[in-house]
Amino acid sequence: MAVVPYKEQQSGKKEQVAEMFNSISKKYDFLNHFLSLGIDIIWRKKAISLLKKDRPKLILDIATGTGDFAIESLKLNPDKVIGVDISEGMLNMGREKLKKRQLDNKIELQLGDSEKLLFDDNKFDAAIVSFGVRNFEDLEKGLADMYRVLKPGGKTVILEFSRPSKFPFKNIYNFYFKAILPKIGRLVSKDKAAYTYLPESVQAFPDGERFLEILEKVGFKNTQCKALTFGVSSIYTGVK
Ligand SMILES: C[S@@+](CC[C@H](N)C(=O)[O-])C[C@H]1O[C@@H](n2cnc3c(N)ncnc32)[C@H](O)[C@@H]1O
Repeated sequence: MAVVPYKEQQSGKKEQVAEMFNSISKKYDFLNHFLSLGIDIIWRKKAISLLKKDRPKLILDIATGTGDFAIESLKLNPDKVIGVDISEGMLNMGREKLKKRQLDNKIELQLGDSEKLLFDDNKFDAAIVSFGVRNFEDLEKGLADMYRVLKPGGKTVILEFSRPSKFPFKNIYNFYFKAILPKIGRLVSKDKAAYTYLPESVQAFPDGERFLEILEKVGFKNTQCKALTFGVSSIYTGVK
């Protein structure tokens, strides 16, 4: 059974995830930085720095949301970044942000599904995802399509929550993530399920070695996993 935000609804994970992000889109950036004490910003920087040597010119940011990972990827000086997401609400917040920062000539945000990307094969130099893959309805299909649109030799960098395994950090983390974070998230976002879905979806996600196995199954080579902040997040990389 897939972990979904609104358990009482009959709709599939994709529809529910889009509905949830539409619902929290206005508070998403604030809650992201507040609940992670700003550490998410450092994680995105670290992940993007792994593409420095590759000098990608055309980057695809999948599940771009409000565009923070796409914006961070501009440090690589690409010609263009395309961000896709299934939530129009998140994209609208992103578009406002880009316009304010005068970055809308470099980054283009499009409505799009990771599992059915509307791009030709072998198009992008890099494909990146931050905190997106956990939300895919069909993880393998999403990763396979990402592989398809990458050029041979192109690289993927995926940032996602994982689960710390060592005492005492594991216990502190579990308490914060399962008891504190959902309460603050619910209070600020006014969405009854979004911040309960967050720890539940992290719990169900195949992190670490299991994720590398899926990357390899869809064709990626040289796969690697780097744990961040005692394993609260991990960066996965692979090459086509
Ligand atoms: C936690 S947000 C991450 C946003 C952004 N990457 C960041 O780092 O802040 C997850 C995003 O994944 C998007 N998403 C989930 N499933 C998707 C899919 N199948 N295709 C495209 N986007 C998807 C959601 O709409 C949401 O905006």
